[in-house]
Formats: sequence, C-alpha cells, structure tokens
Amino acid sequence: MNFKKKYPIVIALDGTSASGKSTNAKLVAKALGYVYVDTGAMYRTLAWYCLQKGVDVHDGKAVGAACRKWKTKLECAEHNGLRSVHLLVETYFPEKEIRTPETAAAVSHVAAVPAVRKWMKQTQRDCIQFGDLVMEGRDIGTNVFPETDYKFYLDATLAERSARRAADGVNENLAARDQRDSQRAVAPLMIALGAKVINNSAMTSEETSYLLLEEIRKRMMAK
Ligand code: DC
Repeated sequence: MNFKKKYPIVIALDGTSASGKSTNAKLVAKALGYVYVDTGAMYRTLAWYCLQKGVDVHDGKAVGAACRKWKTKLECAEHNGLRSVHLLVETYFPEKEIRTPETAAAVSHVAAVPAVRKWMKQTQRDCIQFGDLVMEGRDIGTNVFPETDYKFYLDATLAERSARRAADGVNENLAARDQRDSQRAVAPLMIALGAKVINNSAMTSEETSYLLLEEIRKRMMAK
C-alpha cells in the first residue's frame, strides 16, 4: 500500500492474550513495509532472564534491579519479507525459551513491576530508530506511544482465545493472565482513547487485517 504519510508512524495494536495481535500485526507490517515489534516478547525475555538467574519473579525489587543491570541490545532482523525488532540479551535472542509455559506463567508478574515498565517504555520508544512501526502489546496506545493516531484494540471471547492457544499446543490460564494484566497499578491493559476496537471472535486473520488496513488508510487520508 502506498499512503501519503508523515514520518515516523507507529501503529499501536493492543489487546487481550491470544486475541490475534501477533498474526495481524505481522500481516499489517508486511502490507505496509513497516517494522514489526512484539513488546510481549520483550517482557517474556526479562521473565526468562530472571528465571535463568534465579531471581524471584514475585519479588518486584529484585526484578527491578535485574532489569536495571541486564545487558541488552535492540536489533532489526529480516525474515521472510518481514523486518522485526529483537531484544538481545548479551547478544543472544532467546526466541524459543520465551515461549515455554514457565516463562508464560512468570511474565505478568515481571510486567507489573514499575521499574520494568519504565525501562520497557524507553526501550520500546527507541525502536523508532528502525523506521515506521507496527507495535503490539498491552499499553502501546495508552502509554508507550500515546501520541499516535493509529490505535487499535483487539479482543475475542475467552473461549475462542483459549481454543486458539490450544490449537498452538499451548495450554494456559488466559483468564488469570488477563486479570493480572488488566488490574496492575502501572499501565494496565485498557482501551486507549480513540482506539478502534475489533472483536475478531468470528473472523479470520485475513478479515481482521483487512479491517485494520482499511482503518489505517482512512486515518491517513484524513490527515
Ligand atoms: O503478548 P504476550 O502474551 O507475549 O505478552 C506477555 C505478557 O507481557 C502479558 O502477560 C502481558 C505483558 N505485556 C505487557 O504488560 N505490556 C505489553 N506492552 C506487552 C506485554
């Protein structure tokens, strides 16, 4: 797609767990030629790091201290026509390790720590160095890039989201994770002001990404 646009542009895609954020963010990033950023992967990376280093993920002070001193680097990598930002820990990208059930169970505790959220916000804003972005997460439109005009909130029924995770071979308590993500004190999961809400329970990812691209186009034309 070729739109008239002002640089830099950030498409903020927030929503509940397994609401199709990753699939759709990648489709939209590919269609627009933007860089894809999975901020959940960054929180997962810190959760994995804490588990590796024996840091108690329920101890906010210890997690905050670990986050302040870990050695990381942002890298933009291209794979199958999609450019994505990776957070490297001491030059290593723990792509597989961050998807284990242990990491999934730990991540929302780590993500509730204020010092972690501060570090993540700065790091995620730094991703703009790689160009226009499609960034998915829980607080992108409300907290990380509140200034963007392109905000979206994806959701689907709990039954549908659980079925999607099960189809991926992952069995986890999504309701508990959603509750922790929505009720934490700092940057909880919320619908951003001006966000277009899409409930895609009965939609394919092609239909969802089509709607997203349509709305992005409309908002770009209105500028
Ligand atoms: O999208 P995901 O399941 O990979 O996210 C992992 C966890 O990270 C999720 O429980 C909530 C948290 N998270 C967050 O708090 N803020 C973000 N911007 C992205 C993820």
